[in-house]
Amino acid sequence: MTKNNIDSGDLNSLNTLAAGLVHEIKNPLNAISINLQLLDEDLQNRNSVKDSKMSQRIRLLQKEVSRLDSILSDFLRFAKKYELHLEVCDINEVIDSVLDFISPEAMQNSIRILKGFDTKLPKCNLDSNIIKQALLNVILNAQQAMPEGGELIVRTYGRGENIFIDITDTGVGIESDKIDKIFQVYYSTKKNGTGLGLPAAKRIIEESKGTISIRSEDGKGSSFLIKLPINSKAQEE
Ligand SMILES: Nc1ncnc2c1ncn2[C@@H]1O[C@H](COP(=O)(O)OP(=O)(O)OP(=O)(O)O)[C@@H](O)[C@H]1O
Ligand SMILES: [Mg+2]
Repeated sequence: MTKNNIDSGDLNSLNTLAAGLVHEIKNPLNAISINLQLLDEDLQNRNSVKDSKMSQRIRLLQKEVSRLDSILSDFLRFAKKYELHLEVCDINEVIDSVLDFISPEAMQNSIRILKGFDTKLPKCNLDSNIIKQALLNVILNAQQAMPEGGELIVRTYGRGENIFIDITDTGVGIESDKIDKIFQVYYSTKKNGTGLGLPAAKRIIEESKGTISIRSEDGKGSSFLIKLPINSKAQEE
């Protein structure tokens, strides 16, 4: 095996190893957090300037500990292996449930949701829950790209053995030199972004034997095109 040639077996054991390591770090981190809290409680009964300075430092440490903990939790969620539970599903209904979920916030942010669904779309053999997660990640990004409002246009259509989902927004768009980066793990331009949303969506879609691609013009919005097989089992054979 060459250095650049990691197969899926290696990747699985790497994932297991990494998940184990994360758990090992999370436990002592938890103990540190509890002890910091106890220390802070002890200091609350004293009132000297020195004690309140110490208390401030402890809170700073607590904040960092909880930041580390959430980095590790995000990583665990990302590194875990997906077990696909394939079932016959209507992709328009799957998209609808994601749009229903985000529509209250979209309305608040003056985002109009426009749907162009192909009603004759064949049923697909996919894991609808996991596909929902991938769609939610892409649609949330579209929503976050339109802080001043705009349009979220979701279209579906079928071609041959595949169905296509086009998710377009009229948001800020992505500069052409950044497009290569957006699927990279931990790449984020947001204050509170983990940069795991799109890599997770890509992984889910690829594990379902599909593809995701992007078209974006800076300042004009972005379009994500998701291709999924009608029968992902058939693609394996
Ligand atoms: N529809 C979009 N419009 C503009 N930029 C986008 C869009 N989708 C993704 N991006 C860019 O790609 C980056 C990576 O997206 P990704 O979903 O992986 O992480 P995130 O949204 O920053 O954080 P998280 O999803 O973890 O909350 C974003 O920070 C943003 O810069
Ligand atoms: Mg995101």
